[in-house]
Amino acid sequence: MNAAPVLSVRDLKVGVRSARGEVDAVRGLDLDVARGETLALVGESGCGKSLTALALAGLLPDGARIRSGRIVLGGVSIEGLPERRLRRLRGQRVGMVFQDPMAALNPVLTIGEQIVEAIRAHRSVSRAQARSEAESLLARVRLREGAQLLQAFPHQLSGGMRQRILIAIAIANRPDVLIADEPTTALDATVQAEILALLDELRRDSGMALVLITHDLGLDGGVECRGWFVGD
Ligand SMILES: Nc1ncnc2c1ncn2[C@@H]1O[C@H](COP(=O)(O)OP(=O)(O)O)[C@@H](O)[C@H]1O
Ligand SMILES: [Mg+2]
Repeated sequence: MNAAPVLSVRDLKVGVRSARGEVDAVRGLDLDVARGETLALVGESGCGKSLTALALAGLLPDGARIRSGRIVLGGVSIEGLPERRLRRLRGQRVGMVFQDPMAALNPVLTIGEQIVEAIRAHRSVSRAQARSEAESLLARVRLREGAQLLQAFPHQLSGGMRQRILIAIAIANRPDVLIADEPTTALDATVQAEILALLDELRRDSGMALVLITHDLGLDGGVECRGWFVGD
């Protein structure tokens, strides 16, 4: 791979609060991922995979923080950037898909409202324009009858459909990197394969890099990737 990496991480340490004070849950992670490449982050439960993903997406919860490390996104080092610029850069360049789509979606907003919100959070397009983009996004994640789906609430959809919606939201602003944190753990086996195939297809078509987090090496079958192991 000779292309410049779209995401480059050096010596990332994420500290979390514990009874013993702050401890490093991620202890010096390095990674590089290039355009169109899939990188698998593999490791046992509790080894810091989700915190790594959240740190890269700028979504760390209270009690967790980046202690040190260098993160370069699309050639831009995010060190020292003002908070607003940082949030915008990450929102534009990094998309994130979570393990539990029901928890990641807002139960009281329609699918359409959530996709439109995601689009308008990062680009100044009209509501009508965002709505029409939302419909094409649903087609891109292979959901039919998009116009009707936009009116639906998350609880009215199956787990697989909800994960497709989350993927649509994650790619809404054409990120350079899509981070999928155990995206199929909450799904039935047949649906798991479909979601992985969809992620792979989107990566191929758009050229974005895919960082696929899993605790199960068997699961990435069919997705060509480089492996990376987190933890001790
Ligand atoms: N918000 C938090 N506050 C304190 N500790 C946390 C928090 N989130 C995760 N941890 C701890 O950090 C470690 C890594 O967690 P996590 O990144 O979720 O692991 P993985 O995704 O690999 O299963 C675990 O020991 C977990 O208990
Ligand atoms: Mg996790």
